[in-house]
Amino acid sequence: MRIVVGMTGGSCSLYGVALLKALEQLDIETHLVVSRMGRYVAKHECDMDLDELKTMAAYFYEIDDLAAPVASGSFKTDGMIIIPCSMNTLGAIASGLSINLIHRAADVTIKEGRRLVLVPRETPLNVIHLENMLRLAKAGVRILPAAPGFYHKPQTIGDLVNIMVGRALDQLGVDNDLFNRWGKK
Ligand SMILES: Cc1cc2nc3c(=O)[nH]c(=O)nc-3n(C[C@H](O)[C@H](O)[C@H](O)COP(=O)(O)O)c2cc1C
Repeated sequence: MRIVVGMTGGSCSLYGVALLKALEQLDIETHLVVSRMGRYVAKHECDMDLDELKTMAAYFYEIDDLAAPVASGSFKTDGMIIIPCSMNTLGAIASGLSINLIHRAADVTIKEGRRLVLVPRETPLNVIHLENMLRLAKAGVRILPAAPGFYHKPQTIGDLVNIMVGRALDQLGVDNDLFNRWGKK
């Protein structure tokens, strides 16, 4: 499988880092793009710089590289996930803008009828955020707010993170065992 991963400047870049690790372990070909603020927040929250993030993906593209392979629909992928997804990026995608490579790759994913998964993070949500999410959901985009369930009985922050990452991978059809599933004995 080949999956495009976007990391933007929403809080909770821990989810993005954990997703990259999970995809690496699952031997999935990962194509990574990190926004400028995604880079800032990853450093602030996870003490990880861009060079470290790059080592966790098979391919990395600069945010302004609008000629990168993932900017074209003819480059086949099995979907894209933006984790975390800021309200800025969510708004740009909902408006059909392609100001940077994350927006463009997301736009391409939607137009090609491929699976796009967003893990937005903001609180509280205003009407503009909610309307943007509704617009995207109507276009078939899967929206997974960064809000893990507690019925999986998480014991650690790592468990909480893995619930979100596992649920996001489920949306892309990637088999995983990252969290305790309801009903599983
Ligand atoms: C420490 C920090 C945390 C932030 N958390 C959020 C957040 O949770 N959600 C959000 O929408 N924006 C958040 N922002 C603001 C975004 O980074 C900002 O809107 C930026 O323009 C997003 O750009 P991008 O979408 O290109 O990454 C945060 C900024 C900082 C510095």
